[in-house]
Amino acid sequence: MFEKFNLATDDVHQLGLLGALLILVISAVAIGKYLKQIKNETSTGDLTDETWDGIGEYRNPIPVGWAIFYVGTIIWSLWYILAGYPVKAFSQIGQYNEEVAAHNAAFQSKWDNPSDETLMEMGEGVYLVQCAPCHGIAGDGIDGKAAGFDRWGTALGVLDVINNGSKGLGYPMGTMPGGLASGDNAKAISAYVAGGLKGQKPASFSACTSCHGEDGKGLGGQSPDLTTYGTTTFVAEVLNRGKDGALGYMPKFNDGRLTDIQKEAVGHYILSLGEK
Ligand code: HEC
Ligand code: HEC
Repeated sequence: MFEKFNLATDDVHQLGLLGALLILVISAVAIGKYLKQIKNETSTGDLTDETWDGIGEYRNPIPVGWAIFYVGTIIWSLWYILAGYPVKAFSQIGQYNEEVAAHNAAFQSKWDNPSDETLMEMGEGVYLVQCAPCHGIAGDGIDGKAAGFDRWGTALGVLDVINNGSKGLGYPMGTMPGGLASGDNAKAISAYVAGGLKGQKPASFSACTSCHGEDGKGLGGQSPDLTTYGTTTFVAEVLNRGKDGALGYMPKFNDGRLTDIQKEAVGHYILSLGEK
């Protein structure tokens, strides 16, 4: 591991010591020179008129080298501020943002065409880190503290919505009241919605069309697009909006914490929990 320190073979330390020795010698010579000067020499030259407590000042011209350096520094600093590194050209936050964006783009293109298996694995990983603390490791919603994915996204989930209503996703239309349909009607609607609004439309679906539209697509963003309910598209929408609902508060995930592919993957994963 660590070699024992040996000055005879350690040239870095040799150089360091040599440097220190040189500094000592040069300092000693310089101090000697000035001490001698103070003792032996008297100064000559024109004094200015002012004296401060008996101490005068010579009329010496500014040393040329110093003057060049002084003006040069001013010119350089102007160049530095205006042209070299203009104030807006660089910031560490900007650099950080660029690096994150580049990383995300690389990540996104790496997983451009993920297989089902890849989506499931990635989704489970994201889920366990980002969602499980509230939704439970098994996705059961931890005794009703958050949505349970054994139901949500399925016909049973739609039935819950019809019975209890829904709020908190922040659509222009606001809140959906509960109890708009019941019994067999509610079941027929639920199956229809969970099936992606394909096949025979139950007559009782008319209870929903005033807000979600004849085609169930949400009247151009006024309310959720029911044709995507139970799909990764709907989950991504929930992640971007967050939900301040009857069960509790779910934060938005629209701050770059998750890339699009991760949103799709976690949607894939949680929807698989409802298939049993
Ligand atoms: C009064 C208008 C209105 C009516 C009528 C209505 N909805 Fe909604 N619906 C909404 C709004 C608004 C939302 C979004 C609520 C939110 O913020 O969670 C919503 C959300 C939903 C959701 C998504 C809930 C979730 O978990 O995210 C489903 C499913 C749904 N509605 C189904 C239906 C069905 C089925 C009917 C007919 C029985 C219906 N809606 C009738 C306005 C309505
Ligand atoms: C801080 C706690 C919390 C975290 C973290 C969280 N959720 Fe939620 N989530 C909730 C709560 C609470 C609800 C129920 C909101 C309601 O309807 O009252 C919910 C509801 C949902 C719903 C149903 C929305 C609807 O429209 O009914 C989905 C889908 C969902 N979460 C997905 C996720 C995913 C995916 C993650 C991880 C990326 C996640 N949540 C992380 C608390 C959380």
